[in-house]
Amino acid sequence: MSLTVDAPSALDTAPRLLAAPSPDLATHRATFGELPWQGRRRLVSEVEASGLLGRGGAGFPAWRKMAASAAGGEAVVIANAAEGEPASAKDATLLSVSPHLVLDGLQLAAEAVGAKEAHLYVRPGRGEHAARTALAERRGRDRVEVTVTRASGHFLDGEETAVISALEGRVALPRDKRIPAPVSGMRGRPTLLHNVETLAHVALIARGGSAWFRTAGTAEEPGTFLATVSGDVASPGVVEAGYGVPLADLFAAVGGPSADLQAVLIGGYHGAWVPLADADDAARIAVSRAGLAPYGATPGAGVVVALRSGACALAATSKVLTYLAGQSARQCGPCLNGLPALAENFAALAGGRAPRNCAQRVERLSELVERRGACHHPDGTARLARSALRAFEEDVRAHLSGRCAATGLMIVGRP
Ligand SMILES: Cc1cc2nc3c(=O)[nH]c(=O)nc-3n(C[C@H](O)[C@H](O)[C@H](O)COP(=O)(O)O)c2cc1C
Ligand code: SF4
Repeated sequence: MSLTVDAPSALDTAPRLLAAPSPDLATHRATFGELPWQGRRRLVSEVEASGLLGRGGAGFPAWRKMAASAAGGEAVVIANAAEGEPASAKDATLLSVSPHLVLDGLQLAAEAVGAKEAHLYVRPGRGEHAARTALAERRGRDRVEVTVTRASGHFLDGEETAVISALEGRVALPRDKRIPAPVSGMRGRPTLLHNVETLAHVALIARGGSAWFRTAGTAEEPGTFLATVSGDVASPGVVEAGYGVPLADLFAAVGGPSADLQAVLIGGYHGAWVPLADADDAARIAVSRAGLAPYGATPGAGVVVALRSGACALAATSKVLTYLAGQSARQCGPCLNGLPALAENFAALAGGRAPRNCAQRVERLSELVERRGACHHPDGTARLARSALRAFEEDVRAHLSGRCAATGLMIVGRP
């Protein structure tokens, strides 16, 4: 199922990434054609012209990483399917539906940067079987052998330096990175690490060209993306859409909301809450960096979680913050001390047992942890906490006086 920006309905336009009716090689070739080898570096200019942004969350221009990785010695390429984000299922879906598109992208990326070593880092049971079957089918066709390594399923698994550590045989924990991976990554070699969806787009660009790629999405964020739509919707699932798609179309593609909605969490557990003041808001909000900027949100890795009216948004946020605090690698101060304190204060707020200055404390703790970790885990956690304070201001006030505005109930247990 696919959407593009101009689509009058969620169901009108042809899918790209999810176009193949089955994951086998024959169907893949019938759907997309042969793997179009490009020669070293040519692909980098085409990817630059396409405007492809990484689909792993940060939205960094793909060509820049490719160009930097191609400039050094013998490079390593890595396809990242760790998908540690609990609300995301797009990488598993992509690998299950179109493993050959990802593997084509990995081969093409290896060719573009002159790599002789390629890795797929995948969460067990989440597209791993399809990927291994596809690799067996392609044996003898690929120019670079692909090593498959299993991720452990923790939230931090897929962070770039954690992936590299795991592939080097060490614990999959983030490291301080003073030198970017494309310059010095795995075993000190130039390392091009991309999310699997980014690589699948690379395989499409090599076939269709940059002008075709830009026929979906917006001028600043071209192409389609995979959204995992869950929460209070009729039929949670993964949807392919052009950037700029109205939020309402994403809901429509999964059968619509299952209740009146009060807000949506966009960008995942490191994302931000977008309040839906009335039913028309979802039709007005475009899912793109520009469309979400007024809410302090970005599409991130395409996670969209709908929250119904009447549910306690502070309790929902508190659950996620507690999870995130527990997932920290406990290597840096902000994670060791800051995130547990942040989660505890938020839990007190949600539980209606917080002192009057609790919201200010959460703000202060968020400020204290930001930009102070070796990786962006504290930043993403702080972003979520702050966005909840902003989006649910009225709820925060009500909780401070021992009442939940969403449920209309007095909170039992307030001292
Ligand atoms: C805490 C944390 C977790 C991350 N988890 C993932 C992940 O599961 N999968 C992923 O592709 N990128 C993840 N990333 C982003 C990666 O570090 C990296 O930026 C990305 O894989 C690069 O791919 P791209 O250029 O294709 O976007 C994570 C980042 C952070 C800070
Ligand atoms: S900031 Fe947190 S998650 Fe990131 S490396 Fe430090 S302790 Fe680990």
